[in-house]
Amino acid sequence: MNILLTGGAGYIGSHTCVALIEAGFTPVILDNFSNSQPAVLQRLAQITGQVIACETGNVLDTPWVEDVLRRHGIAAVLHFAGDKAVGESVAQPLKYYRNNIGGAVSLLEAMQAAGCRTLVFSSSATVYGDPASVPITEDFPRRHTNPYGHTKLVIEDMLAAMQTTEPSWRLGVLRYFNPVGAHPSGLIGEDPSGIPNNLMPFVAQVAIGKRPFLNVYGNDYPTPDGTGVRDYIHVQDLAEGHVAALQALLDQGKSFTVNLGTGRGNSVLEVVKAFEQASGRPIPCQMAPRRAGDVAQCYADPALAKTLLGWQAQHTLADMCLDTWRWQSSNPDGYK
Ligand code: NAD
Ligand code: UFG
Repeated sequence: MNILLTGGAGYIGSHTCVALIEAGFTPVILDNFSNSQPAVLQRLAQITGQVIACETGNVLDTPWVEDVLRRHGIAAVLHFAGDKAVGESVAQPLKYYRNNIGGAVSLLEAMQAAGCRTLVFSSSATVYGDPASVPITEDFPRRHTNPYGHTKLVIEDMLAAMQTTEPSWRLGVLRYFNPVGAHPSGLIGEDPSGIPNNLMPFVAQVAIGKRPFLNVYGNDYPTPDGTGVRDYIHVQDLAEGHVAALQALLDQGKSFTVNLGTGRGNSVLEVVKAFEQASGRPIPCQMAPRRAGDVAQCYADPALAKTLLGWQAQHTLADMCLDTWRWQSSNPDGYK
């Protein structure tokens, strides 16, 4: 069965390609390489022993996306394509509204035209804004604190509206918590351009000596050690979550919205310590003011995903650090 992955050359999409092949599906990648490298395709072939079909182009090009869906006889779409940097979304909001919301509208129109109505969408824990308490269940109020988060919220609402009008759509909305880690082969992983915004890639670059120290953004939060607490989830678990979501849509035909997280929260200092152990390298830290827009704690209640999809995260924080380190140390300059 042929499955289209928009943004399939990116960090989460590439790991999901491998999991789909292992589960017996045939992935087809659609990507414009705005935030990824074509070199990932050779790495995927090395891991899977298969050449994965890739269509290079923009998801905003509706007639072309429709043509791709028809030519490959696509049964379902996993929609990863989009921009994801919170800070950039504040600086360039229109880029985010066009690419993320415009991209989703374009994809849905192409799917309607091609008669494909099964979709898994990459949403985010960002839709919970600053949660009133933790762990977070799916019925928590949704808010946005930046244009990126707003795009995820609008797309979720758009999907719900479409479902009301056309009940035949099968929609799986996955709210990811903090994806980290890499494939255990060390051949694919997260390859941020420029200075990483996120904690784990930044820590990895400190360990390899590319950056002198980590700025710890705030040590006066109401958390056990004062630093921010997040639900870090191994990208391999996330990839398996997509396979489980796809399978549930195909088997049961019912739409759902679920958290994909571990249910555990780890502080910045706990991540640093785990990474020092995994890499055997020191991670010098410097305390810095809180980063604007950050929340103190954010972690999932992942029970619904277990009930609906039979999925549960398996990897520990130590696994996440070991696999990130293997990827970082064997590819110090990413895919370049
Ligand atoms: P990524 O940037 O590595 O992958 C996104 C891919 O989409 C890239 O390969 C990029 O080239 C492609 N792309 C972007 N715009 C496109 C367009 N108009 N047409 C075709 N291709 C396009 O990001 P990721 O970390 O793999 O994230 C995937 C999805 O998951 C995104 O929608 C992101 O918002 C969401 N998400 C990510 C995180 C995270 O922390 N990584 C957390 C929550 C949600
Ligand atoms: N942090 C530092 N130093 C850094 C980077 C991060 O101390 O150099 C801290 C942050 O203050 C926060 C924690 O590490 O306490 C995690 O920060 P990340 O930037 O890695 O992740 P966020 O939780 O801020 O955000 C990420 C994505 C969002 C997404 C959210 C929920 O960037 O897009 O997870 O999925 F919405």
